[in-house]
Order: sequence, then C-alpha cells, then structure tokens
Amino acid sequence: MITGHTDLYGVLADPIAQVRAPEVMNAFFAAQDVDAVVVPMWVATGDLAAVWDGLRRLNNLKGLIVTVPHKAAVLDLCDSIGSAARQVGAANVVRRTADGRMVCDMFDGKGFLGGLKGQDYDPRGRRALLVGAGGAASAIGFALAEAGCAALTIANRTEEKAVQLAARVADAYPACDVTVGAPEPAGHDLIVNGTSLGLRSEDPLPVRPEALGPGMMVAEVIMKPETTPLLERAMAAGCAIHQGCYMLDAQIALLADFLGAVPRR
Ligand code: ATR
Repeated sequence: MITGHTDLYGVLADPIAQVRAPEVMNAFFAAQDVDAVVVPMWVATGDLAAVWDGLRRLNNLKGLIVTVPHKAAVLDLCDSIGSAARQVGAANVVRRTADGRMVCDMFDGKGFLGGLKGQDYDPRGRRALLVGAGGAASAIGFALAEAGCAALTIANRTEEKAVQLAARVADAYPACDVTVGAPEPAGHDLIVNGTSLGLRSEDPLPVRPEALGPGMMVAEVIMKPETTPLLERAMAAGCAIHQGCYMLDAQIALLADFLGAVPRR
C-alpha cells in the first residue's frame, strides 16, 4: 500500500517501456517489507538537466535507477561519485540524501558477473567479444577483465569510444589482452551484446550471426524481449545463452542496500 510515508524511487530512461526495474524492485520491496515504490520516469536526453533540478527538490525522493541513455550523463550532475562509477565513467543508481545531494555508483558490472556466475559460467581464461562502449558495456568490460578474461575484443558503432574504453580497461587490468575490433564472434568463447540493439524489433543483429556456433556463450543486456533475436539466433546455432534479466536480478539487493531501502521495523 502506498501512503504518505512511502519512499519514492524513479527509473530514468528513454525509451521507457522496456525497463524492468519497477516490476523487479517493487516485488523485492514487497517481499522484504520495505515501504517504498519504484516508478518509471520517461526523460529525454535534452530534458535531463531540467528534470534533475526538480528531482533534487523532491523531498520524498530517495533515489533513482538510471538506464539508457543517461548512465554516462548523470555523472556530471551528481555531487559525489562512487569508485565503480568513476572507473567505468557511468552510473546506474543515484541516492538522494536528505539535503538534496545526489550520490551515484555503478553496479552493472557486479550484476552482470553475478548473473553469469549464478548460471555457473566463469569468464576466467575466456576470450570475450563485447559489442558496445556505452554505460552498461563499459561496466561489463571492466568487470570481465577483473574476472580474469584472457582476452577482450571491444566493437562499437562509434569506434573512438571503443578505443577509449579499451585503453582504460587495458590500463586497469594489464593481464587482459584488450583490443578493438569488429563485431565478429569467430575466435571468441563469450559474446556479449552491450548495445541497445534488440530493443526494437527492426534492429539489426549486433554481431555477424553466421559465425555463431557450439562452444560459445552469448549474453545480452537487453531485458525486453527476454529472448532477443540475437539469443534466438545463438540458440539455433547451438550456443549457450544468457538473458539480459540476470544483470538486473543479480544486483537488486546491492541497489536496495545502496539506496537505503530497508525493511520496516
Ligand atoms: P547504456 O547507458 O544503456 O549503456 P548508452 O550509453 O547510450 O546506453 O550506450 C548504448 C550503446 O549501444 C552504445 O555502444 C551505442 O553505440 P554508439 O557508441 O556508437 O552510440 C550502441 N548503439 C545504440 N544504437 C545503435 C545502433 N543503431 N547501431 C549500433 N550500435 C548502437
């Protein structure tokens, strides 16, 4: 039941219809007896700064989940940036303090790895292809290198962003062989779509599908549809698949803890 005591959390996104955080987090709050509600907030890039000023002044707002395309942009708007968000250059959660300060951090890397490990997949020693160099993809790139991937190829539509991400990951994790390349699965064990391709039914596939085959694991960040055209193609080619829902499911408790969403006494 939502009352005047209920804490308010928002999910910032554009488009909004695909976000899963409201259903997943509200179910978590109900199960844990947390007096809080998560609502979707559809905000276009050009309006983010104006909306942000209002959110700072919203006294019962306790925080925000941030997703496409705002993960990188919110760093400039926050008063304090956690170490994972600083390393990745993007955030997916913001805590609003009682005096209106905005404090962000990034849990997509931990969530993605937690999801893979929850499915008994260990990236240690694997050769990974990461498509994308935005907020979520950057978090995953750092997390895969930290988890011991032997090699990481980064492919992105805007190559300059892949070049910059590859340099930062290589600098932080010299044991991982990080290169920039094409979205070509051949020669990789783990293929990760970290782009927004797959959200819309008319989107092209993020990788060259003819090269998918048995022995590969294909993972997604797209949560809706649950099984994207890429995952369908991967299954048909005999690959193992990992749906996008796991990245969020594996970080819900971490997000709630960061947001101070605690059970009623
Ligand atoms: P998020 O915060 O969810 O990670 P983002 O930072 O906007 O979202 O990143 C979106 C990613 O999807 C980027 O890698 C983007 O490529 P660009 O860096 O070239 O923009 C990628 N992407 C989005 N639409 C795409 C498209 N039509 N074709 C190829 N890549 C696309």
